Amino acid sequence: MAPDKRDFATRVKGAVRENFNQSAATYRAFERRHRLFNTLTDALARWMDITPGSLVLDVGCGNGVSCETLRERFDATVHGIDLSEAMIADAKSHIKDGRIHLLVGDGECLTAFIDIRGFDAVMYNTAIFVFPDPVASFREAKCLLKRHGVIGFSFYPRVYAPEAPDLIGWAYARLDLPVPKFRTITSWEKTCQSLREVFGNLATTTFEMPGSVALLTDFFSIPAQSASLFPKLPYTDRAKRVQALFATLAPWEGLMTIGWDMAKAQNEE
Ligand SMILES: C[S@@+](CC[C@H](N)C(=O)[O-])C[C@H]1O[C@@H](n2cnc3c(N)ncnc32)[C@H](O)[C@@H]1O
Repeated sequence: MAPDKRDFATRVKGAVRENFNQSAATYRAFERRHRLFNTLTDALARWMDITPGSLVLDVGCGNGVSCETLRERFDATVHGIDLSEAMIADAKSHIKDGRIHLLVGDGECLTAFIDIRGFDAVMYNTAIFVFPDPVASFREAKCLLKRHGVIGFSFYPRVYAPEAPDLIGWAYARLDLPVPKFRTITSWEKTCQSLREVFGNLATTTFEMPGSVALLTDFFSIPAQSASLFPKLPYTDRAKRVQALFATLAPWEGLMTIGWDMAKAQNEE
C-alpha cells in the first residue's frame, strides 16, 4: 500500500476505535430500546441463507449483538472480531456462551488473528463502510471461508420517503448546514465492486424498516454514529446537532423508511 494510503488507513482506524471505545454503553442502551441491530442481523443472515448450526465469522461484531442474534436465531457457533477494545470488553461482560468467541483485532487482517478455516459464512453487519480497504478484508475472509461459503454485509442506512430520496440531506438543508462530503469511509459502489473483484459474483438487496424521529435521533446519538454526521465536532456538540437535525424531520413522521442496502457473494473456489 502507498505510504499516504497507509497513513489514511491508520488515521481512520484510530478514529473508529476511539469513537467506538466511547460508544459501548450508549450502543447497548439504544439496542435495548429499539432492537435494531438484532433485527438487521436477522434480516442479513436470512438473506445470506445462513443455515442452522453454521460456523460464522462476525467481522466488526461490536459489543456482540450480532453474535447473539446468530447464536440464538441460527444456532450458529460465532467468532466475533472487532477493532474496539471497549466494545469487545462490553460484549465479554454480557455474553457467557461457550459458542460465542470474541476477540479484539483488525478485520482487514483476519488471518493474523483467526487460525480457524472453513467458515460457512462471514458477515459484516453495519461495519464495512468504515473499512478503508474492503478488498483487503474480503481477500482475507476468502481464505477463511469454506468452498461454497457465503459472505455478506449490510451498509450505512439511507433515510427516505416518497419523493424524498435523501431525508438526511434534506434535514441539513433545512438547518442551512453543509452536508458532510463523506458519510462513509468507503462508498457503497466501491464496497460492492470490491466484493465482486474478490469473489467474482455479487447479489444485492435492500432491507427496509419504518423510520421515526425518535429512532433516528437515538441511532445517531450513539457517539460513533454521530461522528459520521458531524465529524469535526466534540461529542457533546455533535449530540446537540443530531437532536436539531432530526427534529426537522417531524413533518415526515409516519412516512419515513430506513433502507439498509445489503450485498453478498459466494465463495466458488
Ligand atoms: C455499527 S457497529 C456494528 C456492530 C455489530 N456488527 C452489530 O450489529 O451490533 C460497527 C463495528 O465495526 C467495528 N469496526 C470498524 N472497523 C473495523 C475494523 N477495521 N476491524 C474490525 N472491526 C471494525 C467498530 O469497532 C464497531 O464496533
